[in-house]
Amino acid sequence: MTKVFIARAIPGEAARRLAEAALDVEIWPGEMPPGRDELGAMLLQCDAVMTMVTDRIDRDLMRQAPRLRVIANMAVGYDNVSPSEAAEEGVWLTNTPGVLAETTADLAFALLMDAARNLTASDRDTRAGGWKTWSPTAFLGQDIFGSTLGIVGLGEIGEAMARRAVGFSMRVLYASRTPKPELEATGLQRRTLDELLAESNFVSLHVPYNDRTRHLMAAREFALMKPGAILINTSRGGVVDQDALVEALRAGRIGGAALDVAEPEPLPPSHPLFSLPNVVITPHIGSASLATRSKMADMAATNILAVLGGHEPPNAVNRPPNPRSP
Ligand code: GLV
Repeated sequence: MTKVFIARAIPGEAARRLAEAALDVEIWPGEMPPGRDELGAMLLQCDAVMTMVTDRIDRDLMRQAPRLRVIANMAVGYDNVSPSEAAEEGVWLTNTPGVLAETTADLAFALLMDAARNLTASDRDTRAGGWKTWSPTAFLGQDIFGSTLGIVGLGEIGEAMARRAVGFSMRVLYASRTPKPELEATGLQRRTLDELLAESNFVSLHVPYNDRTRHLMAAREFALMKPGAILINTSRGGVVDQDALVEALRAGRIGGAALDVAEPEPLPPSHPLFSLPNVVITPHIGSASLATRSKMADMAATNILAVLGGHEPPNAVNRPPNPRSP
């Protein structure tokens, strides 16, 4: 029987859809992801796998899994699997574009507001008994309206972030390899990364993670940021040189950071970022609404059903010249 492995319990109807297509569906029961050996053992018997961002599948694992025909990543990012390695091994790799852009931009904007107006910091203080009186000087934050947001990477999530910022009367700059003149008509202005860093009160990262974007934000870039500016990262932890970030925060070079991603994940509780008061950290929940995660799982299931049905998957991020056959 054709077998599908789903590497974690998922919301929505996707698992049921796969089972209704007469597939043998096995779902990893653990709260923690399968380890490499466990994943390898599962893949050995599988024709398709639905992976999460936590599941790294390299060439060796693909070679050990001769039946595997498609890796459907339940994420828009796919830095956990190399598309070219998979293609060379005859395995389709798919992702979930489109469905999570608005939800992730909601979280990025929530982080921006939190860091600007000290939501988490003041909540923490209040719970600890710190609310003694109305204070004219406590938790003075930064105004969002009228400030400048720099969006690094104007893909679908960056664009959704820009729309939110325009609604909050922010000036919006973007740095992107591809100019988007149609968005410039809505008020966005293109800058180089260096110019954007020098002009922005908030810098929000929306680039994919690859060799080109690894440590895109390092000591030099933090030095270019406006004093007191706030960094928001909902992309991947590796886009930021975290040691340089800690330095920039400790030195008061920048005003704060709001991070949904880190390197490594999970970030150990002893990490210096946790000891800094002007840092907000959430556990990689950018796309975490019930509706959106269900749509992502559904999209991954559609990609699996396409490949197992002998078709090209709708959301392929590679193109195996010789796709494996059953
Ligand atoms: C989550 O990080 C994703 O890439 O979808």
